Amino acid sequence: MTPFGIRKFIKRLLGLGPAERTEDARPPARAKVTLILVDEKGEEQTYQGGAGDTPLFISGNMAKPIGSGCNDSSCATCRVEILEGHENVSPQGSGEKETLAANAYDENLRLACRMEILQGSVKLRAYEFLEI
Ligand code: FES
Repeated sequence: MTPFGIRKFIKRLLGLGPAERTEDARPPARAKVTLILVDEKGEEQTYQGGAGDTPLFISGNMAKPIGSGCNDSSCATCRVEILEGHENVSPQGSGEKETLAANAYDENLRLACRMEILQGSVKLRAYEFLEI
């Protein structure tokens, strides 16, 4: 024990020092979510992330990540189709719809850089992938 530690220990014994910390200082762990990504050949990749992560963020850990251009929902490069798990993602915002329409894509597609996976498992079909 260092001299500083001894002083703190004695102060605590005398009731002069701060109470010993008992709570865990780490933030609570987020629930795990699962992203299943399907490519144009039907091959699947699976990876887990935390609740609230975007598919684009989670796919960054995959061998073949979703392609992206702007990361601010203006290019629609990251467009994906939800195959399973519609109930597990955040609702589509007006910005997503506008970007898809402006780029002449079906408005039912989603932007992987904006949509969040909130719980459970989601299966997506991506159209463009990052070349590694
Ligand atoms: S990366 Fe451009 S819209 Fe998602």
